[in-house]
Amino acid sequence: MSLNFPIGVFDSGYGGLTILREFQKKLPEYDFVYFGDNAHTPYGTRSFEVVYEYTLKAVRELFDMGCHLVILACNTASAKALRTIQQKDLPLIAPENRVLGVIRPSVEYVSENTRNGHVGVLATPGTVASLSYPIELKKLSNGRVKIITQQSCPMWVPIVENNEIGTPGADYFIEKNIRNLFEKDPAIDSLILGCTHFPLLIDSIRKYIPHSGVQIIEQGNIVTDRLVDYLKRHPEIDKVCTKNGETQYFTTEQSDIFESHASLFMGYKIKAKKINR
Ligand code: DGL
Repeated sequence: MSLNFPIGVFDSGYGGLTILREFQKKLPEYDFVYFGDNAHTPYGTRSFEVVYEYTLKAVRELFDMGCHLVILACNTASAKALRTIQQKDLPLIAPENRVLGVIRPSVEYVSENTRNGHVGVLATPGTVASLSYPIELKKLSNGRVKIITQQSCPMWVPIVENNEIGTPGADYFIEKNIRNLFEKDPAIDSLILGCTHFPLLIDSIRKYIPHSGVQIIEQGNIVTDRLVDYLKRHPEIDKVCTKNGETQYFTTEQSDIFESHASLFMGYKIKAKKINR
């Protein structure tokens, strides 16, 4: 299949749809291919090697579909695979193509917008263990971010992938993890949802934030603004991205299951194809 030259959007499952829907709003004329590796989700509890292997395979498949630019709309893949793909693989397999992630835009945004320098990060166990957020926040915030507190939320991705959103069972884990985070630092004023699945749980998350002075940072808008800016600064990439306003959806799992969940999350009916490997 080829949708001419779409922008590839990759996630371990449904989470990247929270990024894609913002891309579609701000860049409606562009073509996109969404790739959910639902057969292997969740990535958050897998090793570096496995996440890297799955992510590289998907990136190659997106390149084969005609993508010159791929966004890893997944924090875990951005934390565990992006740098190696950019530095080691791209020069060998497709030096003219680009792969970007979601962590750096979020780090830059929070560095500019925290008021008291206390930042909380909710993420998968893999992203937390990678220390990508603390490392990047220290490196890029110019001292504006002083205290970084992470909380791993191992159950949140399975809750979304199994569509248990809003159930008492789901709320039990969400409340527990948020309480743990704010016990570690009650002064947090900026809370990064460091997993693209988490905005789908936003109603429950809001319920358990202990005070109203906390800004919740969802990545959809931030990453989209960065992509718009990137395309302006890189006309050579923008030129090769086709603009028919079309999106195609691919999953490594059964397409009908993907279609019904993804349609719910996107708010309109979508058709998906299973990737044949
Ligand atoms: N959406 C992915 C992220 O942003 C979830 C990873 C997973 O599958 O655990 O980290």
